Amino acid sequence: MPTSISARRLELPRHVAIIMDGNGRWARSRGLERAAGHDEGARAVREVVRTCRERGVRYLTLYAFSLANWSRPKLEIEALMRLLVRFAEKEAAELKEKAINVNVIGDLDELPTFTRHAVENLIEYTNELPEGTTEPQMTLSLALSYSGRRDVVDAMRTIAAHARSGLLLPEDIDIGTLRRHFTTHQLPDVDLMIRTGGEQRLSDFLLIESAYAELHFTDVLWPDFTSDDLLDAFRVFSGRERRFGRTGEQVKLARVK
Ligand code: IPE
Ligand code: IPE
Ligand code: MG
Repeated sequence: MPTSISARRLELPRHVAIIMDGNGRWARSRGLERAAGHDEGARAVREVVRTCRERGVRYLTLYAFSLANWSRPKLEIEALMRLLVRFAEKEAAELKEKAINVNVIGDLDELPTFTRHAVENLIEYTNELPEGTTEPQMTLSLALSYSGRRDVVDAMRTIAAHARSGLLLPEDIDIGTLRRHFTTHQLPDVDLMIRTGGEQRLSDFLLIESAYAELHFTDVLWPDFTSDDLLDAFRVFSGRERRFGRTGEQVKLARVK
């Protein structure tokens, strides 16, 4: 039972990333416009943010709008951009009160001005700590106009320019160099990647950052996703043995030391 997991100690993922998929199908199956599925998806976002914060997850990264999503119908994109504004305005107070600081990965500048402003305000507001708090309790990253492949290409361009101008030797380039140039530079690697909606693909999300993430796919459509589903994913994660190239015996030995 997902609700009884608090009874035993869980190995909690430090960084959870979610591909929130299935909004369109949720709406269509009810004879509604796709936008209604996105609206209902905002409820699931609120619930997941609250549960992650309560459980002590340090980083939560949500795939809200991909670079590829610009190819969707104009009306749907507009509905999503308006929903982001509503989300930013409605959730600001609670996020700040809970010391959750919001930031964006991807490219905020590609969003329409009214959406960009609302998200910028949310970032500014939540990055100021509430009274009586000395450090943020959770970082909520919204992936907007995000593409993992583009992050790699942009980083490579900057690194190549630095190498050409003599700031950097090619032999000094390592994965850390690349990571520091990503829009995710302030985030640790992903521990648990969840995708709802039944598809089993990454859709260009956090490609390098998820190199060693545990993947969890569920058929639940995002608007139906609840705390119990999230805790289920945490329980599965906790049961996985993360070997990072070592043998199971090595991992067990390291644990008892
Ligand atoms: C995910 O749900 C939300 C966004 C991409 C913004 P979809 O809109 O992709 O839902 P389906 O996959 O069509 O059901
Ligand atoms: C991925 O979902 C993007 C987001 C959840 C924002 P999509 O529904 O756009 O992914 P594909 O196109 O089916 O792979
Ligand atoms: Mg989809």
